[in-house]
Amino acid sequence: MAKADKDMAVGLDVGASGITVAVLNHAADAGQEIAGLGFSPSVGFDRGAVTGLDDAIGSVRRAVAEAELTAGVNISFVHLCSDMPDMLVRLGSVKRQIDGGRSMGRRELLETHEQIINGCLPAGYAAIQLTGFRYYVDGKPVSNFRGGGGGELQVEAVAVAAGSSRVEELHRCFTEAGLKVKQTVAGPVAAAAAVLDGVEQELGVLLVDIGAGMTRAAYINHGSISDLAVFPAGAGHITSDLAVVLHTTLEEAEKVKTIHGIRPVQGHIKLRPISGLGERNVPGDLAHRVIKSRLEEIFEFINGFIRKLDLTDTLPGGIVFTGGGSRLAGILDLAAERLSMPVRGGTCRMVPETVSREESYRYTNAIGLALRGAGQRPATRRARGRLGGGLVDRLFHWLP
Ligand SMILES: Nc1ncnc2c1ncn2[C@@H]1O[C@H](COP(=O)(O)OP(=O)(O)OP(=O)(O)O)[C@@H](O)[C@H]1O
Ligand SMILES: [Mg+2]
Repeated sequence: MAKADKDMAVGLDVGASGITVAVLNHAADAGQEIAGLGFSPSVGFDRGAVTGLDDAIGSVRRAVAEAELTAGVNISFVHLCSDMPDMLVRLGSVKRQIDGGRSMGRRELLETHEQIINGCLPAGYAAIQLTGFRYYVDGKPVSNFRGGGGGELQVEAVAVAAGSSRVEELHRCFTEAGLKVKQTVAGPVAAAAAVLDGVEQELGVLLVDIGAGMTRAAYINHGSISDLAVFPAGAGHITSDLAVVLHTTLEEAEKVKTIHGIRPVQGHIKLRPISGLGERNVPGDLAHRVIKSRLEEIFEFINGFIRKLDLTDTLPGGIVFTGGGSRLAGILDLAAERLSMPVRGGTCRMVPETVSREESYRYTNAIGLALRGAGQRPATRRARGRLGGGLVDRLFHWLP
């Protein structure tokens, strides 16, 4: 099998329910197309963090092997997303003097990035991603760090971070799985690349990802993420609520959730017999209330985020939902009512026709990661060599 080369970008998303991989071929003459996809249930992970190293490595390898097989290439580099419940966003800023006529070199830029991270993150947190760079020379906005001229350069950036021990363990898992992480990206940033257009991202949009294990709300404007909040419950919790209240298995509860969603159910729902209990009928209204109460909690979280950022009148792009939970039947109507905003479900671009509509949502983050990866410049060996590997490699890929 050939190696995935510079014309391929690979995205890998570690979700609570599954690991997904997307291989994007972006050779100039072929345009862009998804060359392969992979999926594996995420064993050894708990909401983005490694809980069992060997199992986690196995899950990653299985998802990657499937993508390698379908794309017909060997994968050694990935763009990674693995959202964790303690993820946070901080705005950082650093100032430095620049000589007249000499623009800032890459080494200085890397140091600047490290200073931003050190200055804005709480103790015990490590950066997942630096994004949303803004530059000012003597207080005036300039388009990039190569502003030239002399004076005081101020660099502002948004740092997305999570607990450092979990981030380190995650990277260890990928190293031991034989993969090099080219870049880590927050889930909503990856999803944005797959479901939003440039205008929405510029004008302001709220992206809400209701996954299996958590819900994230991210405010994206001026083309990058401004703020993000994580709520530690998602569609998987609806399934477990139903299983507990209806006294049934997770499989049966999952069926009730996907068949009925948030639509009112008249009469009774028939549940398959489970050990010790025969076939049973449970009131449809009970299932409806269970699902609705978890969703109300999620909408209250979103409303809290909108209030905190004072976004009520400033969301031209409205609210875009992604993640498996956003496929719950009837959820968008309830969301529009509870959030008093235009809402829509995000459709992932570039999903191959061979993937069913029911499964296509799964690949949103992986495809978004690959699309972002395809748009990035490779780092030069010489510049990397001066500063060593590890964090510096990742810092390098934050270069705008
Ligand atoms: N049609 C549907 N109706 C209701 N729920 C659905 C539907 N399709 C998928 N789901 C739910 O979506 C969840 C999986 O979504 P997704 O793949 O986005 O999660 P994940 O990425 O693994 O988790 P996370 O993002 O929290 O780490 C599961 O709980 C699944 O039951
Ligand atoms: Mg997810």
